[in-house]
Amino acid sequence: MALDKMEDLSLKCTNLRAEVVELEGIPLTQPIYSTWDQVWKFKARPDDLLIATYAKAGTTWTQEIVDMIQQNGDVEKCRRDTTYRRHPFLEWSVLEPSELRYSGLELAEAMPSPRTIKTHLPVQLVPPSFWEQKCKIIYVARNAKDNLVSYYHFHRMNKELPDPGTWEEFMEKFMTGKVLWGSWYDHVKGWWKEKDKHRILYLFYEDMKENPKKEIQKILKFLEKDVTQEVLNKILHNTSFEIMKENPMTNYTMEFQGVMDHSISPFMRKGAVGDWKNHFTVAQNKKFDDDYKKKMADTSLVFRTEL
Ligand code: A3P
Repeated sequence: MALDKMEDLSLKCTNLRAEVVELEGIPLTQPIYSTWDQVWKFKARPDDLLIATYAKAGTTWTQEIVDMIQQNGDVEKCRRDTTYRRHPFLEWSVLEPSELRYSGLELAEAMPSPRTIKTHLPVQLVPPSFWEQKCKIIYVARNAKDNLVSYYHFHRMNKELPDPGTWEEFMEKFMTGKVLWGSWYDHVKGWWKEKDKHRILYLFYEDMKENPKKEIQKILKFLEKDVTQEVLNKILHNTSFEIMKENPMTNYTMEFQGVMDHSISPFMRKGAVGDWKNHFTVAQNKKFDDDYKKKMADTSLVFRTEL
């Protein structure tokens, strides 16, 4: 390859880290910001299912459970494409470089119904058509400490996200909501407040870990689907961390080559409750807890940080 081409490519790769712009106080990537008008005007259809989460709360896991249910446990059908393309990521868009181009909007618009769509948007930024069409929504929340740890490692390995800085620095950003998609605290509380006003199933990552069968049954009921015991067991098996970690359609090794560096930290990292204990110092834990109490004083939401 000619030297100028190589320099061009390496320049492209070093420039992947997203520029962050605030929209109504929520930090988003520049491409999301620049396509926001279209995101806001997105035309939801009544039979759309929205899977909403704060990033790293168990989105991919929930997506796989939902797809397995929709495909009645047919593993081959679920392997028709990667998670990233089976379920359009509503607001996400990557404009450059061209080989990484992605538009959640375009993917969704071209997709026949019924669609399952993913979003990390806080509730106030969800396009109004989802409410107008009374779409079903599954929201998954994960305890702040594990969510933060997972988000930190994801920033380290995913070059499309801003540089996380040190663990200490990232923790500070997380606590002040200066991370992509904004404050975890506002996100989980905001969705919690809305849950009884709309068709929202609010789930917890910790419950899914503790008793996945029970949570899958909740999703089945919410989607008004029935499966045999055999299919239910198949869903359980194929959506386990161990199987999803090895499945190229779910482990993000087929997309984002040159963007996600799984040798720094794999996308399917630990899949556990309580890994925060391996990251927080005693002092950091105290600081985090004190701040948490203040930020979560105005909600009935309760999280478990260990099982
Ligand atoms: P860790 O980084 O703690 O391992 P998202 O899909 O929202 O980006 O969330 C990713 C997190 O969910 C990662 O957490 C990942 O390992 C975990 N995860 C993915 N599939 C899982 C599964 N089947 N069971 C448990 N955790 C899973």
